[in-house]
Amino acid sequence: MIPRNEFKQRRKRLMRLMPKGSVAIIASAAPSIRNRDVEYPFRQDSDFYYLTGFNEHDSIAVLAPGRKQGEYVVFCREHDEKLAVWVGRNAGLEGAREGYGADEALPIGELQKALPDLIENRERVYFAIGRDDDLDRHVMAAVNAVRAKARAGVRAPFEFVALEHLLHELRLVKSTAEIKTMRRAAEVSVAAHKRAMRACRPGRYEYEIEAELVHEFTRHGLRSQAYPCIVAGGENACVLHYTDNRDPLRDGDLLLIDAGAEHDNYAADITRTFPVNGRFSDPQRSLYELVLEAQMAAIKSVKPGNHWNDPHDTAVRVLTKGLVSLGLLEGKVNALIKDEAYKRFYMHRTGHWLGMDVHDVGDYRTDDAWRPFEPGMVLTVEPGLYVPADCTDVDPRWRGIGIRIEDDVLVTEKGHEVLTGAAPKAVDEIEAFMHS
Ligand code: GLY
Ligand code: MN
Ligand code: MN
Repeated sequence: MIPRNEFKQRRKRLMRLMPKGSVAIIASAAPSIRNRDVEYPFRQDSDFYYLTGFNEHDSIAVLAPGRKQGEYVVFCREHDEKLAVWVGRNAGLEGAREGYGADEALPIGELQKALPDLIENRERVYFAIGRDDDLDRHVMAAVNAVRAKARAGVRAPFEFVALEHLLHELRLVKSTAEIKTMRRAAEVSVAAHKRAMRACRPGRYEYEIEAELVHEFTRHGLRSQAYPCIVAGGENACVLHYTDNRDPLRDGDLLLIDAGAEHDNYAADITRTFPVNGRFSDPQRSLYELVLEAQMAAIKSVKPGNHWNDPHDTAVRVLTKGLVSLGLLEGKVNALIKDEAYKRFYMHRTGHWLGMDVHDVGDYRTDDAWRPFEPGMVLTVEPGLYVPADCTDVDPRWRGIGIRIEDDVLVTEKGHEVLTGAAPKAVDEIEAFMHS
């Protein structure tokens, strides 16, 4: 869990980054209807949660640096006895102040009346421009209300700046508490992958394996998946975001599982690929060893001094070389890389930032160059190879094989630490584990 005080520090840091005369307005996520009276499980907006730790919808946070009556104002739902009977207690105004550190808490119904006062005589409003129609409307209504007071000598903001740039820089580099939270998400996700490996055998269905994953997440109190589980037997693994998970698992096929739990709104993202019957065939092993070699080399390149694209370049080189050795590509390695010939079998990138969002925020390039790694960044390293069953010009032994291996990697002062390394991934390790 992120300690309460850390949310306060985040708000302070953001306010320090905002030039004088600024105010920031951040909206919660809205509940989302699944069908008629049923809502999807609520997931707070990551930016809002990062700054508030507050898990309720219908909330707006305002950061007004230097404001005498308090810099941190929250609009939220008042305590509601009827709601308490149906869905449980909400924090209410007092809870927002006492539990979540708001200097001032006001009913969300008073937003229209109170927001103009919070932005008047400030030049610049930071908010997620264009992301949420309601927020856009609230901000513009408040600005117009302030403009109407011009003759009273009140100045209205005239600059509107996307908040994401400042905020996402903060989110990109993780604190000790964030890393601890992500470790927990990783640890439970590793346990889930191990459980799935243990449960796997020919004749089981993909959804039965999905049930094992979800069971393991849930029994540890991690009730949300960071993204829908991919449980893809055989050639289904060649569909990168396959989530149908409804086919039977066949003897002699591989199973690709891409699944991660979310803990306190922080994600894990792990992929393992292993034989349904516990033994790799020769062609499966050859391709698997190649992906693993690419992944290990790519992970090795994660360290301060290297940049964001180094793991990808490394993986592409190892994979292309290996594809030539196995006869899946023909030609000179450098030319095949330049022409992107590998994209036929490896069509995605080698990773992404990881954090509160599985594809987390933060720029990948700065000043027109790839971003250098810094301690505290977390990324995935996830090369793969995919030979769809209909590749009729490819030797039949390779057809219908899809492999991806994905770990979560923390950049440290000295290099890196793999947060998800405890999930078996060497060939003999997987075979031994599945036969134990
Ligand atoms: N699970 C989504 C991804 O690996 O990017
Ligand atoms: Mn990923
Ligand atoms: Mn993944």
